[in-house]
Amino acid sequence: MANVVVVGAQFGDEGKAKVTDLLSKNADIVVRYQGGANAGHTVVANGNTYKFHLIPSGILYSGKTCILGPGMVIDPKAFIGELSALLKRGLDDANLKVSTCAHVTMPYHLLIDAAEEESRGNQKIGTTKRGIGPTYADKCARSGIRVEDLLEKDVLKAKLDWLIPRKNVILERLYNLPALNSKEVYETYLEYGQQMKKYVCDTSAIIFQSVREKKNILFEGAQGTLLDLDHGSYPYVTSSSPTAGGACIGAGIGPTIIDRVIGVSKSYMTRVGEGPFPTEQSGAIGEQLRQVGKAWAEVGVTTGRPRRCGWFDTVLGRYSVRINGLDCLAITKLDVLDEFDEIKICVAYRDAKTKEVYKDLPSITGCLQYMEPVYESFTGWRKSTSECVSYNDLPAQAQKYINFIAEQLDVPVAIVSVGQNRDQTIIIEDPIHGPKRVLTKNVK
Ligand code: IMP
Repeated sequence: MANVVVVGAQFGDEGKAKVTDLLSKNADIVVRYQGGANAGHTVVANGNTYKFHLIPSGILYSGKTCILGPGMVIDPKAFIGELSALLKRGLDDANLKVSTCAHVTMPYHLLIDAAEEESRGNQKIGTTKRGIGPTYADKCARSGIRVEDLLEKDVLKAKLDWLIPRKNVILERLYNLPALNSKEVYETYLEYGQQMKKYVCDTSAIIFQSVREKKNILFEGAQGTLLDLDHGSYPYVTSSSPTAGGACIGAGIGPTIIDRVIGVSKSYMTRVGEGPFPTEQSGAIGEQLRQVGKAWAEVGVTTGRPRRCGWFDTVLGRYSVRINGLDCLAITKLDVLDEFDEIKICVAYRDAKTKEVYKDLPSITGCLQYMEPVYESFTGWRKSTSECVSYNDLPAQAQKYINFIAEQLDVPVAIVSVGQNRDQTIIIEDPIHGPKRVLTKNVK
């Protein structure tokens, strides 16, 4: 029995879906604990490609309970669309559960997200325009609609009768947009509630009972550590807590339930949207990282935007180890580096203003934008790794690269992924039952 949290250790899009898919095989329950339709997870299973936005990829295995937890924000239209596409492909929804407490992304959230972004001009965040920020803002303001409200017509009506006129003031007066029709919104969302009804329940109770029965639970984070609302590169973040701590709040469990935290990082780094990215490569290197391998082309799954690409950053990696308490790391997309003559890795930052060098981030504040990376250079292995099935199969230079990351982050690398398919995965040590990480006093 082990309850495991899988988190993105970078700016999101680390290839978490592949790792959660691998670990889902031995899990009884897969729980998504935050975010909404802003996420985009791609899994290639048995030659078929599946793209997930809201539903945990654990649904690919029949018999697993898949939970959309209370910390999520759910756009019912997106949920129903995604689910019906999966059902058409023969997947089974018998064990799909949606928390009563998850918040609902409403049409005004989508409109306000887009309009607010537009109005920010050069201060824009680069959101996915899926209404995420406004939905979480209403949750915090205690003006949100929860999934349970969609099932209670009087409650929904009363809430919308108060909410819609207020949202219409924002839409019409602030953004010059047409007002929403309260009755139409009410009827549409009541109907969505009826379509979702059979999945809605107290998911925290299911998880707790499973803990009692010593089942294996996998908590699946979306986005990544540096997009965390509290610990990421604020304000260029999402509005939830993708970090390991978020699993407790977002799933409705206590921290004592979690046995292990696995971080997922690419072998390089990407970011979609705005915000600082010290190791970003805007020239030929960035383009090569983006384009390499058709299947891996670096384009956002949700928005189709090209991803910004750059070298692996161990300063941010160490930060991620700290914030999440990572036990081990899964490194994905090693094969993308196969053709590079030289591979760089950021080992420290130099403050562009003071010239001071930092091995660790002085603080996750606006200072990130003044940091210049200090690189160490590796000779590329210039060999395909996509057929490698064990660590020993990897070219010596690739082994050296992986070991360097492990040493720099002071965390073992348990998994290396060398391609999109399930079997293109190298297990170096058991990510779940491997030795518990022992913190050393001084990092090299
Ligand atoms: P939002 O989550 O749509 O509000 O977007 C806020 C920021 O997080 C933007 O920079 C997005 O590009 C980024 N973001 C949101 N979801 C993802 C994701 O799943 N992968 C990568 N970036 C994301």
